[in-house]
Amino acid sequence: MTALLALEQVYYRYPSRDAAALDGVSVAFGRGQRIALIGRNGSGKSTLMLHCNGILRPQQGVVRLDGREVKYDRAGLLRLRRRVGLVLQNPDDQLFSASVRQDISFGPLNLGLDEAAARHRVDEAAELCRVTHLLDRPTHALSGGEKTRVALAGVLAMDPQLLIADEVAGGLDPWMQEALYDILNRLVEQGKTVVLSTHNLTVARGWADLVIVMRDGRVQIVAPPAQIFSDPAILRETELDQVRM
Ligand SMILES: Nc1ncnc2c1ncn2[C@@H]1O[C@H](COP(=O)(O)OP(=O)(O)OP(=O)(O)O)[C@@H](O)[C@H]1O
Ligand SMILES: [Mg+2]
Repeated sequence: MTALLALEQVYYRYPSRDAAALDGVSVAFGRGQRIALIGRNGSGKSTLMLHCNGILRPQQGVVRLDGREVKYDRAGLLRLRRRVGLVLQNPDDQLFSASVRQDISFGPLNLGLDEAAARHRVDEAAELCRVTHLLDRPTHALSGGEKTRVALAGVLAMDPQLLIADEVAGGLDPWMQEALYDILNRLVEQGKTVVLSTHNLTVARGWADLVIVMRDGRVQIVAPPAQIFSDPAILRETELDQVRM
């Protein structure tokens, strides 16, 4: 079956750096999957995710949506972003409107929804992410976890088939983390796919049905968590044996 989104041999080097941030990365995301992306700081997780909705463009290799090579013109990016939603690691990079309501509305309006439909989406997403009480607040005057929830609501309001969430759980309180996994699981039950980068190995082990381990800009291994976390050879190779779990 054709993957929803696939990266093929993607190479990317930030202009200011000598070493590649992605060095021939191939991954494919299907439908209805829970995928955890793990790896050390600087291993390339965020760079990979930025390629998933066209914020970064491969310098070599291709990104395919439903088997078709992504085109980086306006129409191509719109087509990609209709299907793939990305929550950035740092919500300050994501929120730019004056108010929370405006921010969450931006995506749906940009997709061409009329005001009433967009408002409905915003209200729904805000409730799901528990930010309804913040809708009239300015985005810059929120706590870190509130910003993350608003950023997530803005992406969910676009109803993506594939949700890419970069370290979203980190700044959330434990109650909101519970709510987050409920939200993510609900998306997967609807046939959508969630890719979550995380440093929480308990989450990778217990929540994901597929784990991608990155190292030095490469995909080191892709396997179900049961395999990764039980195979001594894999644990050694990924150095996960050095981590207390
Ligand atoms: N804007 C940038 N300009 C230059 N180099 C960058 C930039 N962003 C990331 N890098 C470099 O690219 C490499 C991959 O970084 P990336 O942010 O993808 O890692 P990561 O796995 O998401 O790390 P973390 O776990 O810390 O979030 C690192 O060497 C990093 O220093
Ligand atoms: Mg990162």
